[in-house]
Amino acid sequence: MTGRGSTAATIEFRSVTKRYDRGAKGTPGAVNDLSLTVPAGKICVLVGPSGCGKTTTLKMVNRLIEPSSGQIIIDGVDAATREVTELRRSIGYVIQQVGLFPHQTIADNVGTVPRLLNWPKARWRARADELLALVGLDPARYGGRYPAQLSGGERQRVGVARALAADPPIMLMDEPFGAVDPIVRERLQNEFLRLQEELAKTILFVTHDIDEAIKMGDLVAVMQVGGILAQFGPPSDMLTNPASEFVAQFVGADRGLKRLSLARVGDLPIHQAVTARLGEPSSQARGRLASAPFPFLLLVDAEDRPVGWLAGKDLPADGSVIGDKAIAMSPLLTRRTTLKDALSMLLDADVQAAIVVDRKGAVEGFVTAEMIFDWFRDDVRRRSEGDGASADGRAAATATATASGGGPSAGPAPPA
Ligand SMILES: Nc1ncnc2c1ncn2[C@@H]1O[C@H](COP(=O)(O)OP(=O)(O)O)[C@@H](O)[C@H]1O
Ligand SMILES: [Mg+2]
Repeated sequence: MTGRGSTAATIEFRSVTKRYDRGAKGTPGAVNDLSLTVPAGKICVLVGPSGCGKTTTLKMVNRLIEPSSGQIIIDGVDAATREVTELRRSIGYVIQQVGLFPHQTIADNVGTVPRLLNWPKARWRARADELLALVGLDPARYGGRYPAQLSGGERQRVGVARALAADPPIMLMDEPFGAVDPIVRERLQNEFLRLQEELAKTILFVTHDIDEAIKMGDLVAVMQVGGILAQFGPPSDMLTNPASEFVAQFVGADRGLKRLSLARVGDLPIHQAVTARLGEPSSQARGRLASAPFPFLLLVDAEDRPVGWLAGKDLPADGSVIGDKAIAMSPLLTRRTTLKDALSMLLDADVQAAIVVDRKGAVEGFVTAEMIFDWFRDDVRRRSEGDGASADGRAAATATATASGGGPSAGPAPPA
């Protein structure tokens, strides 16, 4: 049994619309013409404000709700053509209130679906034990207890274990960690991410919390009221390239991003730039560039101050490095520039790398928006490991101090 692991499934929404008919024609849909594909083995997070159609979207996958139009294709097969009971048994479902049966023991709760599938008792009991251990609950201690004897976080783990019981290729999780306190929630998130590394299920995960979406999602679908898909892609897209004002506001409104005001460029692993002095022989510069991952030279003056980037292919075949082919300059940052300011400068710039300079204006290296995003993700994960409260206090204080928005407030301005 252990390690067998069903293969994950691809889920494809094709122009799926759901209208709750209340007679009135032309009422806006709860879900509107939704098209997106979740690749097998990935976590796709549906995120958006209350009432935007997240739960409706989820329930159409296991057909607790039938679409008004469109199809949901699971591994090439239209869910509408499958037998409902069989379909549901192939899909684990975790909801916020867990919905454990109060008069059944924890082991019996976890074994619900295997029992329905007529597994012999010894087999489903063994499976229940295995799953309880998997979600971090000692089966000997917890198996015989009743739901009311467990904490909220423990019940939520049981809910996950129960949903995994028949080893379904798909999991639907509707605000699964919403009902527990923030510390337990972060622990459950981390445990679940670790579990998913092994399980590699295809997961549709609903939340209204953009922090949770960014942390949990391989892909994020931002929805807005009316069941409209505002943006779909990897989480970094929502931060670096919001598709609309709505997404920008939804992402920006979240306190998580304000953490970027707390950190500074000096906290990043600044990349070494390959530099070339104006006037130096181009053959030497080409030699240094050959072993660099980034095919651009940063031209500097006699004081190592940046002049501009030069593509390797634009280096003169022989002769000396000159500045007239330099492409646009990058924003200039110092180690003291906040990541929030650095990101906003990068998003406005033509070149997606900002140059870090020291107090005298000499080049120290460069950073990219991607590096800032990586920092952000790591930060969310680091914080999950425990020191949440104090960092939050600092975040609030600093965010207030720098809340005026507008242009960059630290670091020299890029040259015109
Ligand atoms: N059974 C129902 N009958 C009528 N309207 C419903 C029903 N369920 C949900 N809705 C409406 O559909 C919209 C989307 O709801 P839902 O999918 O639950 O949103 P979310 O999970 O994002 O909060 C909301 O406007 C909600 O009021
Ligand atoms: Mg909901």
